[in-house]
Amino acid sequence: MSAQAPACQLLERQKDNYASLWVVGPPVDGWLIDQSTGVVSGDFDALREWQAKGKQARTPFDLAAGEPFGKEVVLFWPKAHQLGIWWLKWLCEQLPEGTPIEIVGEHQGGIKRVPKMLDELGMPWDKRDNARRCSLFATRTVALDSSSASAWQTFGTLGLTLVSHPGVFGHGKVDEGTLLLLESLESSLPKKTLKVLDMGCGDGIISAWLAQRGHHVTAVDVSAFAVEACKRTLAANGLEGRVLCSDVFSALEGEQFDWIVSNPPFHKERDISYGPSQRLIGSAPEHLNAGGRLVIVANGFLPYPEHLQRAFNDFQTLADNRRFKVYGAIKSGR
Ligand SMILES: C[S@@+](CC[C@H](N)C(=O)[O-])C[C@H]1O[C@@H](n2cnc3c(N)ncnc32)[C@H](O)[C@@H]1O
Repeated sequence: MSAQAPACQLLERQKDNYASLWVVGPPVDGWLIDQSTGVVSGDFDALREWQAKGKQARTPFDLAAGEPFGKEVVLFWPKAHQLGIWWLKWLCEQLPEGTPIEIVGEHQGGIKRVPKMLDELGMPWDKRDNARRCSLFATRTVALDSSSASAWQTFGTLGLTLVSHPGVFGHGKVDEGTLLLLESLESSLPKKTLKVLDMGCGDGIISAWLAQRGHHVTAVDVSAFAVEACKRTLAANGLEGRVLCSDVFSALEGEQFDWIVSNPPFHKERDISYGPSQRLIGSAPEHLNAGGRLVIVANGFLPYPEHLQRAFNDFQTLADNRRFKVYGAIKSGR
C-alpha cells in the first residue's frame, strides 16, 4: 500500500530512516498506519483507525505529564497554527530534552511558517525534504520558558465562563448560529428536567447553558481537545455533566435522550463534510425517547431539511435570521 495523503507521500521517501515511528496529529492514511508504532492525536476517529490495526493510540490527555512515548516522532502541522505551537510545546514538555522531532505539512496548510516559529521558540531546525507541495523539517526538543498550559483561554458570555483551546471550534469566540440556537431554546424548553445530548459540544457552551438550567447533560465530541475544554467549562461554572469522546453516536449505543441539541459540524479540516451531520439526523430517532426532539442550527444553505424530512417525516423551522436557521423535529409515538 502506498501513502495517499501528500504529507505522508513525502514521509514515504524517508521511510528507511524510521524503525519505530510515532506520529502526532496525523491524517488517516493506510500506509502511515502500517508504518507507525503509535499515534498521539486529538481526533477520536484517527485513534480508532490506529487501534483497529493493533497500534498504540493515545490522546495527549491520556499521557501523564512527562510520560515519554516514542523516540522517533513526526508532528503533522495542523490547520490551526496555534494548535501546532501547542503540540510543539507539549512535545518539549513530554519528551526528554534533545529528542529529535520532525515536522511535516502541506504548504497550503501553513508549514512554511514553521521555521520562523521554531526560531521564536529557540528550537534549532533543518529542512529535510520538500515535494508534493509539502515540506519536512527536523528539530529537537528544548527546555522552553512558557508552558503548553498557557494555551487554555477563558472568556465570559451569557453569564457563563467558557474554557477553550486552540483547535476547538470557534476558539475563544461564540458562534452566531449557537447564539440563535440558545435563543430559540430559551422559549421552547419545558420547565421539567430533561435528559439532553449535546452532539459536537466544542468548548461546551450549549452543555453549560443547559446544565445551568438544571438539565442532565451528556456532551460528546470527536475531538479530545473539545472534550477536555467542555469538562473544564462545566467545572469553571460549578456544573455537572457527562462528557465523552464519540464519533456521533458511537459511544452511546442503545442510549436514548429526551432532547438532542446540536450545532452540527460540516467541515473536516479544510473540506466540507456532511457525513457526521447526516449520521446525526439519520440516527437521532433511535436515540430519542418517544416524543423526544432534535433541535439543530445550521447555515441556511445546508441541505438539512431533506435529511430531517427523511428521518422524522416532518420538521419545523424554529428560527431564521437569514444566515442561520434553527430546525426542530419530534419523534412521533408519545
Ligand atoms: C459547529 S461545532 C459546534 C461546537 C459547539 N457545540 C458550539 O456550538 O460552539 C461542531 C462540533 O462537532 C464536532 N464534531 C465534528 N465531527 C464530529 C463527529 N463525527 N462526532 C462528534 N462530534 C464531531 C467538532 O469537533 C465541533 O466541536
